[in-house]
Amino acid sequence: MNRPLRIALTKGRLEKDTVALFQRIGFDCSQLIDKGRRLILEIPDADLEVVLAKAADVITYIENGVCDIGVVGKDTIIEQGKTFYEVMDLGFGRCRFALAGPKGQTFYKGYNVKRIATKYPNVARGFFESKGMDVDIVKIEGSVELAPLIGLADAIVDIVETGGTLRENGLEIYDEIVPISARVIVNIASMKMKKERIEALLGKIEAAKAQKGAEQ
Ligand code: PRP
Repeated sequence: MNRPLRIALTKGRLEKDTVALFQRIGFDCSQLIDKGRRLILEIPDADLEVVLAKAADVITYIENGVCDIGVVGKDTIIEQGKTFYEVMDLGFGRCRFALAGPKGQTFYKGYNVKRIATKYPNVARGFFESKGMDVDIVKIEGSVELAPLIGLADAIVDIVETGGTLRENGLEIYDEIVPISARVIVNIASMKMKKERIEALLGKIEAAKAQKGAEQ
């Protein structure tokens, strides 16, 4: 007997929308909603197992083949690279990568090497390379917006969703980098070995996504 398909979902920001999507499919999401401290959750009747993980770990699980399918933000995909199939844009979790810093400053001016704080050094490096600009990048783990406020950096490369965090801290967007949303990813071997089951699930996700679109 095959093991159930195992899905890795990003916990936090994308979690609610993903569970709502699964509910539209008709999946019994009671374990996902009332999960307690349990780490492997089941969607009974659908032969699916779900693990909730941090975005970077979702990618690790998919790349290592311990999960077949994942839901993760495009931000983490761009930052970490990809050895998996990215098969669908779910349309939620919409935000963007942006270059931002203290209000009223002209970032693209002067010859001094700028210092950029970010949780996404690869994204930041790629962005400035594409502009032919030499910058120093400082990796920060959280609240990147603090860096220019306390003098650690001239600007930040970070995710902007509502823009509220920037506004409340006297920062503004200097440049938009790339739009982001939640994506479905699939392990390369699973796509071959479990093709029918995966395609059936992707079909259900696609239909539920279209249904939401039609309701809006
Ligand atoms: C992200 C991002 C910004 C904030 C932007 O952080 O790093 O700080 O959200 O959202 P806004 O434009 O709606 O204000 P998150 O809340 O995910 O927390 P983190 O800093 O711990 O990663």
